[in-house]
Amino acid sequence: MLLVPLLLPQLVGCDGTDAASPRFTGNPTWHADIAPIVQEHCGSCHVPGGVAPFALDDYAAAGPMASSMAASVEAGTMPPWGARRTAECQPRFGFVDDPRLSDEEEALLRAWAEDGAPEGDPATAAPLPSPANLSLVDPSLEVAPAVGYVTSGNSDEFRCFSLDPGLAKNAWLTGLQVVPGNPEVVHHVLVFADPSGDSAALAGADGSYDCFGGSGLGLGGGLLGAWAPGAFPFEAPENTGIALEAGSLLVMQVHYHPGGGVAAPDATALQLRLADSPPGRAAMLLLLGNASSDLEGLQKGDHDQGARAEFRIPADVADHTEAIRYPIPPIGLELQVFSAGTHMHYVGTDMLIEVDHAAPQGDEPATECLVQTPRWDFNWQRAYTYDAPLDEVPVIRGGDTLRLRCTYDNTLANPGVRTALEDAGLTAPTDVFLGEATLDEMCLGVFGVVL
Ligand code: HEC
Repeated sequence: MLLVPLLLPQLVGCDGTDAASPRFTGNPTWHADIAPIVQEHCGSCHVPGGVAPFALDDYAAAGPMASSMAASVEAGTMPPWGARRTAECQPRFGFVDDPRLSDEEEALLRAWAEDGAPEGDPATAAPLPSPANLSLVDPSLEVAPAVGYVTSGNSDEFRCFSLDPGLAKNAWLTGLQVVPGNPEVVHHVLVFADPSGDSAALAGADGSYDCFGGSGLGLGGGLLGAWAPGAFPFEAPENTGIALEAGSLLVMQVHYHPGGGVAAPDATALQLRLADSPPGRAAMLLLLGNASSDLEGLQKGDHDQGARAEFRIPADVADHTEAIRYPIPPIGLELQVFSAGTHMHYVGTDMLIEVDHAAPQGDEPATECLVQTPRWDFNWQRAYTYDAPLDEVPVIRGGDTLRLRCTYDNTLANPGVRTALEDAGLTAPTDVFLGEATLDEMCLGVFGVVL
């Protein structure tokens, strides 16, 4: 009996259902085959002045990189995208704006690299796809810090900006986009609502303050969006909007990746589309799980020391999990989940979010996986929006149980741990607890829901 669960993971492999790529037998060249693929899938970052450390936008730049390009795509690290179908998790829908290459594109890139990355004839160049339009349609207003922020050095920096959208009345957010001021250093951005207005007091004369992971306001500030270079605008599902109270401020957390030297000032802007009358239904981004202090639903784990469940990731343990169970009260509640995302810090390696349906309806499985990010990378966190109409997306009802499972590797083999230790001025792993700092952890699900 015991052997079965022990053997299973080896039989199915870690990435279960991600199929092997077909072999490509033609003779692809840069101009005829590869340039359009690179422009479409890599061009939002690997261009001069982009966030990636090198450009891949012409043959001279990309040719010498061919093997590492193919390797990074095959390893799944590029383009950055965390949600995977695995043996454990097969969401019923794909996700919108999935930037990954098709199997055929991946095989072309591999064949080109193995063939010595031939340039081909510019006269046979395939048409390049036109760059995606990332602007928000019909924005109502744009807010940005009054003074550009200057980041510098080699370590990443996390800075929060308190912004005033001037909301005299309650409003409903129907669309949001982030417009990086200096795209060379803006690695990723989180946007929070601050109904209390407390962020103004935290901010210095330039309107900004140090923060990490969140808004620095605990769970008081609700998340409105997560952005990375190349991301399409957030669009609330049709006839829905996220309520913003009159007088609310916004907190924009920018993760800077300065890459040495002193960068040109950055004034990243937020484009907002607001409705001033309530839309048909309310949308919101729900954060559920354990963040800075909440131990609700935490399950007792292997490494817990006392009688009670504790959130402690022991030093030098490579495979530690924290599990959270949230029984949803059996009331007539129905949440349509249009997007799901995972959130941990630097020690995390894998996160899985599932829901057990008390009374499955239609073709709903009894246990439904909402999302898994099996190669968690703090730098590329985002929300994953289902590619499905609102009336077909997963639903969480009263009586269901939401389950989160977070896996951590608190050893020096984890590059995230090395980053976090360096940041804290330490050299050896230490026990990690819940909290908001770089060397604290969380296990938090982010759910875009319509009520
Ligand atoms: C959203 C931005 C973005 C996109 C899209 C993107 N990259 Fe990257 N890439 C980066 C950044 C930033 C780095 C530097 C390492 C890091 O921060 O992860 C990088 C690093 C790399 C590296 C260095 C080795 C490694 O894996 O870190 C290679 C090779 C690479 N990218 C290839 C590609 C290719 C090929 C594509 C398209 C198929 C692509 N990238 C798409 C941002 C991007």
